[in-house]
Amino acid sequence: MAEAESSSGRGDKEFFLDRPVQGSPYTLKGSHSLDWGLQNRLNQIFDPKSGRTVMLAFDHGYFQGPTTGLERIDVTINPLLEWADTIMLTRGILRSTIPSTYRGGIVLRASAGPSILSELSNEQIALDIEEAIRLNASAVAVQVFVGGKMETQSIHNMTRLIDLGNRYGIATLGVTAVGKELTRDAQYMRLATRILAELGATYVKTYYVEKGFETVTASCPVPIVIAGGKKLEELDALTMAYRAIQEGALGVDMGRNIFQSESPVAMIQALREVVHENEEPRHAYDFYQTIKSRFEV
Ligand code: R5P
Repeated sequence: MAEAESSSGRGDKEFFLDRPVQGSPYTLKGSHSLDWGLQNRLNQIFDPKSGRTVMLAFDHGYFQGPTTGLERIDVTINPLLEWADTIMLTRGILRSTIPSTYRGGIVLRASAGPSILSELSNEQIALDIEEAIRLNASAVAVQVFVGGKMETQSIHNMTRLIDLGNRYGIATLGVTAVGKELTRDAQYMRLATRILAELGATYVKTYYVEKGFETVTASCPVPIVIAGGKKLEELDALTMAYRAIQEGALGVDMGRNIFQSESPVAMIQALREVVHENEEPRHAYDFYQTIKSRFEV
C-alpha cells in the first residue's frame, strides 16, 4: 500500500531544499532540443563518454550482393560485434544473422531499389518505420544524391523518413552519396551535408576530404561521421580516421576498411583507439599489429 503523505508520521523526509533541481543537458552536437527517446537512441550510437562512435557498416549487400568480406556475415562480422558501438545493416541480415543478444546501436538501411546493374541513385524508401521500431533500431539510414539525377526523389525519401522518425523517436542518418558524376571536395561536401542537416537529418555520413574537411564539419550543425570508402592500407585508413576526428567528425562508419583488412578484429580495435582515445595513427597502427599477432596465434 502506498505511503500516504499526511499519515506517514515520519518527520525525516529529505527534500534537499538547499539544492537546485539538477538538469542533465544533452551535449551531442545539435541534439540538445531533441526529444528524450531520440537522445536516448543517439546514446546507443554515440558513446556518451567520448561523444563519438565507431559504426561498423556492412549493408553493402543491399545493392551489390555478397561483397568481398561479407560472403558469410556470421563468420566474418559477428566476431567483431563486441567492438562496434553501432552496426549499420539491412533488416534481412539483422533478422537472419545477428544474434538478438547484441546490445549496441542498430542503424537500419532504409533506402534501396536499384542494384549495381542499374541507375544506383533511383532509390525509394524501403523500410516501414514500424519495422524499424519492431527491430529496435536506433536510427534509419537513407542515401541522398545531392546534385545527382534523382536528387529530389532522394531528398524526399530522407525528409519522409525524418518525419516518421521524429514521430516515433527514431534518428535519421542522412548519407551523402558520391556517384561517378559527383565531385568529392570540401565545397561539395559542405553543400551536401548542410542540405541534409537543414532538412532535418539527425546526423550525417559523408566522405573525408583531404583539404578543408574542418569547414565541412564546422558548417554542418549536426554530427558528421565518415565513411571509409575503398580499402586502404591499414595505416592510411587509421590516418584518415584520425584526421577526420581531429577536424571535427564525431565518428567513423566504416565497412571495407574493417572487414577487408588483413585482421578485421585488430583494425576495429585500432579504430576505437583513434576515435575514442585520440590515439595518433602511428601508435594506433602499432596497436593494430599487436592485436593482429595476438589473434594469429
Ligand atoms: C554504401 O552505400 C553503404 O552505405 C556503406 O555502408 C558505406 O559506403 C560504408 O562502407 P565503406 O566504409 O565500405 O565505404
